[in-house]
Amino acid sequence: MSKTVILGVTGSIAAYKAAELASLMVKRNYVVHVIMTPAATRFITPLTLQAISQNPVHVDMFASPGSWEIGHISLAARADLVLVAPASADFIARLAAGMADDLLAATIMATKATVLLAPAMNDGMYANPVLQEKIVYLKGVGYRFIEPETGRLACGTVGQGRLASPEAIIGAVSQAFSSNQDLADKRILVTAGPTREPLDPVRYLSNYSSGKMGYAIAEEACRRGARVTLVSGPTQLAPPPGVSLVPVETAQEMFEAVVGRYDQVDAVIKAAAVADFRPRQKSEQKLKKQVFSPVLELERTPDILGYLGEHKSRQVLVGFAAETENLLENAGGKLRQKNLDLVVANNLTEPGAGFGVDTNLVTLLYSSGETVKLPVLSKKEVAGILLDKVAAIIQVQAKKV
Ligand code: CTP
Repeated sequence: MSKTVILGVTGSIAAYKAAELASLMVKRNYVVHVIMTPAATRFITPLTLQAISQNPVHVDMFASPGSWEIGHISLAARADLVLVAPASADFIARLAAGMADDLLAATIMATKATVLLAPAMNDGMYANPVLQEKIVYLKGVGYRFIEPETGRLACGTVGQGRLASPEAIIGAVSQAFSSNQDLADKRILVTAGPTREPLDPVRYLSNYSSGKMGYAIAEEACRRGARVTLVSGPTQLAPPPGVSLVPVETAQEMFEAVVGRYDQVDAVIKAAAVADFRPRQKSEQKLKKQVFSPVLELERTPDILGYLGEHKSRQVLVGFAAETENLLENAGGKLRQKNLDLVVANNLTEPGAGFGVDTNLVTLLYSSGETVKLPVLSKKEVAGILLDKVAAIIQVQAKKV
């Protein structure tokens, strides 16, 4: 079946190049619907894009009931991909601010399809740290960017800001469609978030984990065809579509949920920040301050990953090592002690790494001794690279059996 692409065109001098992109996509048999921002119509007429795309071009959010319905609701739902080319600085900033003040921004806010943005602007605007921060943010929440090229710009200067070539843009579109199914039918268990260890009905011990890394892995694994179980401590995140969620609260509950499913899975990825200690006693009633001892007696929680490592048969085991010092030694120690195939090490003190943020800065350590230090990437990108490796190890294990 033909793929439906929404081509978004915004107010940049490169808007005229949208005509060629529309034409190349129609030639590839994509169904192309163009949405222009009002500013884009100053650079190229809707009529041109309508003739090339062979579909009505949408501009005005309030045009008429008929086009409202098609433009805003059904186009967002029907699209397999949204490509914004060119994406102006103003449009990128509005998208990052969560605004839906024209039809294109509203459609992107509403769609579940992949969104690709190809920026084009003056080099100074592109390099501006305000814009760069918006791009990092948008990448972190899953938007993909096709980098502008360096060359002579319409304003006469030479620098980075020229819309990527039609070949690069069409290549990115077709790559987005050739979805990688390298985990098809593999069963993957991911743990995420913190655990909570209760002291009484109103108090608990926990940590700052947001669950973002584990949820990104679960989502990406599902996208690649895996059957994913997400055992999650309490987080603010919605479970990714298609993932089977097992909510837990304590380390003991997580232990039972994971160990009970261990035999049926091909890989376990333990991104959760499990509490290592819990109060020795949980009071059934709220502890009154008169009886509250200032010294809390703690005991160890079960080491879930340690247990999985001891009882491993064919499963691929991936651990995380959150460290604040001696990153590689400590993470390497966990890799060996817990019998892991791979450990994802991050130094929580480095900018761009760790809890709560949308990016991560990690080093991968393999049981073979190989280490790979990655740059600061979105958690989604880290998830993608990690799963490439997990898929490769699963394949090697399958050959051994
Ligand atoms: N982990 C686990 N069960 C625990 C504690 C940790 O399964 N009770 C897992 C985490 O999910 C993570 C890995 O073990 O994948 C490493 O967690 P981390 O807290 O970094 O290390 P610990 O093993 O707890 O060691 P230490 O406290 O000495 O750093």
